[in-house]
Amino acid sequence: MIRLQPDRVRAFRRKVLRFYRRSGRDLPFRHTTDPYRIVVAEVMLQQTQVDRMLFWYEAWLERWPDWHSLARAGRREVLKMWSGLGYNRRALYLLETARRVVNEYQGRLPSDYRALIRLPGIGPYVANAVLVFAFGQRRAAVDTNVRRVLIHELGLPPDIPAKAVQEIAQAVLPRTDPAEWHHALMDYGALALPRQAGRPRSREAGERYEGSLRQVRGEIIRRLTTAARIRLDTVARSLACPLGTVVRAATALEKEGLVRVSRHYVRLREDEADASASRRRPVNSTVRG
Ligand code: ADE
Repeated sequence: MIRLQPDRVRAFRRKVLRFYRRSGRDLPFRHTTDPYRIVVAEVMLQQTQVDRMLFWYEAWLERWPDWHSLARAGRREVLKMWSGLGYNRRALYLLETARRVVNEYQGRLPSDYRALIRLPGIGPYVANAVLVFAFGQRRAAVDTNVRRVLIHELGLPPDIPAKAVQEIAQAVLPRTDPAEWHHALMDYGALALPRQAGRPRSREAGERYEGSLRQVRGEIIRRLTTAARIRLDTVARSLACPLGTVVRAATALEKEGLVRVSRHYVRLREDEADASASRRRPVNSTVRG
């Protein structure tokens, strides 16, 4: 266990909080403790930068302001709303989480780490972030950005294991206002930290999107939000890429449960919950529709 000098910890807290109070970002999801809004924000922020996600965030909340309204939506609808944001599985995770919150938790997100990480799309970081931002719990939420801040400012080894960083993040938490502290850490990481070598490249910026498998996957899902099915060779032609690439993309999407692939076609996988979403019965009901 790495020992931290109390003076160093105090100076670190002061520096980060001072930066935040002067230069912090005013973001819509920082004005709420509604667990639904926090989860939507954190899931969107998992692979998308803040300035890019804000438009989708507002649109999503306008359409589905709470767990109940989202739980009644269909897969196609949520994918359509997500369109352009990328990593489409996140939209389906949110939908599935909403259905489970409504059906298993009476519409109230659990405030318990173990229960949270069992929900789709909610990993250790998001679970901790929700406990901090929605429930005011004094615990550490460590994403790559927070990790960078701790490594840089506390002089930790760059390859320090995640578990050790988590312990350090917990040890340096101020006694009060864990939400403000995390906003401060995140803004310090995003705005103040020097862009040093060895910084992990953002996936969005780092990889070529054109012609990538991710582009083909995105195109398949985008088309399927408005068509019942599409031909694989049509996608290949429209993107001017080999049919084999489209087949690979479609097969990967099928493995993840987003689509079904037949010989020439790909179609959206619509689950039973979609068909019955608007007339859902209580989970314990024995009646089958
Ligand atoms: N504020 C709350 N969560 C955040 C996040 N994931 N990134 C940036 N700011 C945030």
